[in-house]
Amino acid sequence: MKSRIAVLASGGGTNLQALLDYLAQRGPLAEVEVALVACDRPDAGAIERARRAGIPTALVRSPKAPDAAEPLMVAREHDVDFIALAGYLRLLPGDLLAEFPSRIVNIHPALLPAFGGPGMYGERVHRAVLLSGAGVSGATVHYVDEEYDHGAILAQWPVPVLADDTVRSLSARVLKVEHVLYPRVIEAV
Ligand code: GRF
Repeated sequence: MKSRIAVLASGGGTNLQALLDYLAQRGPLAEVEVALVACDRPDAGAIERARRAGIPTALVRSPKAPDAAEPLMVAREHDVDFIALAGYLRLLPGDLLAEFPSRIVNIHPALLPAFGGPGMYGERVHRAVLLSGAGVSGATVHYVDEEYDHGAILAQWPVPVLADDTVRSLSARVLKVEHVLYPRVIEAV
């Protein structure tokens, strides 16, 4: 039987799309299915991608959606086995972490433990990498715990930082490998 995954997203959802495309390509061999896409903001592009793919969506409680359900309730309601964060910007509540031990993963657009932690998301990550003079960046998939970008690392994929890189060019290079790495790690885990 396929594992039922919830994808939690706050933004555009290109990693969600990469996962859906990968699973479609795997067809009957796929070991997981995306059973739910949950977002903490109603305008997240990931919601539209999920709708287009015919996947149930949910809004979870946040300052942008104060009346929405708690993430744990939503996960239970959709009978989820595993959770993948894909651009989800909030720390997870303790009750959700407790109910899904070693069953929540995240992808981060740098080589953790460097360039992670509170406030290190989106363009800020790539800007910090460029300012540091690092010659390598990349993507990291890790388990999720109660701290930002902190759980055990499952997989990393390095990419070069080039002399003429901008935030835009570096983030595009990293995102490209995220889209290859994340679906495969999710399925393997
Ligand atoms: C990705 O860079 C991911 O590593 C980070 O947030 C971004 C999400 O992008 N956690 P998208 O919404 O999947 O396009």
